[in-house]
Amino acid sequence: MLAVASAAVALVTVQGCSCTSATAQELLALKDLYGDYFKMGAAINTSQVSGSDSLGQATVKKHFNSIVAENCMKSEKIHPERDRYDWVPADSFVNFGTENGMQVVGHCLVWHSQLAPWFPLDDNGKLVCADTLRQRMADHINAVVGRYKGRVQVWDVCNEVILDDGTYRESPFYQILGKEYIPLAFKLAHEADPDAMLAINDFNMATSAKREAYVALVNDMKAQGLRVDAIGMQAHIGMDYPDFGEFEKSIEAFAGTGCQVMITEWDMSALPTVKRTANISETVEYEEMLNPYPNGLPQDVAAEWNQRMTDFMTMLLRHSDKITRFNAWGVCDSDSWKNGWPVPGRVDYPLLFDRNYQMKPFLTAVLNNN
Ligand code: GLA
Repeated sequence: MLAVASAAVALVTVQGCSCTSATAQELLALKDLYGDYFKMGAAINTSQVSGSDSLGQATVKKHFNSIVAENCMKSEKIHPERDRYDWVPADSFVNFGTENGMQVVGHCLVWHSQLAPWFPLDDNGKLVCADTLRQRMADHINAVVGRYKGRVQVWDVCNEVILDDGTYRESPFYQILGKEYIPLAFKLAHEADPDAMLAINDFNMATSAKREAYVALVNDMKAQGLRVDAIGMQAHIGMDYPDFGEFEKSIEAFAGTGCQVMITEWDMSALPTVKRTANISETVEYEEMLNPYPNGLPQDVAAEWNQRMTDFMTMLLRHSDKITRFNAWGVCDSDSWKNGWPVPGRVDYPLLFDRNYQMKPFLTAVLNNN
């Protein structure tokens, strides 16, 4: 497998280009370079799907063989009212992936955030009873998974159900049904599309208590005979967290359950860390010192960022027998949610392509080093 990747890089070298040059980038597609290791994926938005962002769309088509919807399949978008689904953006997303021969990942069926407001509430704004929530989950999962049966290959069934200390998140789902809602969601998703791969997904997966809790939860669901295929490690990371040794321990522990490991939402902020979670409701007020590179990333910081990513990717390649997908949360730096979170109005540099769609150097450096 190393030979194939090296051959691709060598091809560029014999044609007289350095591997970070524009010509090299014209020749190399990430999905080919990394094809023997894992799928290369990206979260994409509606402008990339429609082509109104034509450069973004071209980059997705060229470089990625897996896509996930950044927002349009979240319940607040796809099921905004109890009796109304908005299928249009999700249909376009799935068609785009199918037409381009990509793995299509559905994100996500059960999540406390970006949850349609009506979902857990009755007409008086109080939490519904257990039976009603079970029925609503069944209706939602049957409708969404059923509509894309055979065309969405992987579903993020439950997102962010455990906290960093290993306890269950007190989401409305948990408050109403207790931890039972998690296996229920997996059962319903499997019934709606028996061939789809089913994943559970979260951030800060390198935290030891969270790691142990996920291993226990997944083993427990498997012992009940439920289908759980993958554990998704979001990997919204920074220059000073997480410890890659701890991240590696989680890859090994998750693979030990028999699940595939997927890096589902990777991005690495180049900015000062103010929050280590991905809770989009927790923001911090803007201060100039928190936005140190509004006009471009200084060379020394870019070098440090690329070095840390070389280390991270090298570690992931060592585990390519366990990891089946590396998915970036966005395509180029200007797309990223990190420009607006946790501090609104910052300029960040967290993705695989810069604002001019130039590939970050670590992507080829890693393969040269291996
Ligand atoms: C979480 C979710 C994603 C996305 C990111 C940030 O990690 O799983 O859907 O919302 O936050 O935008």
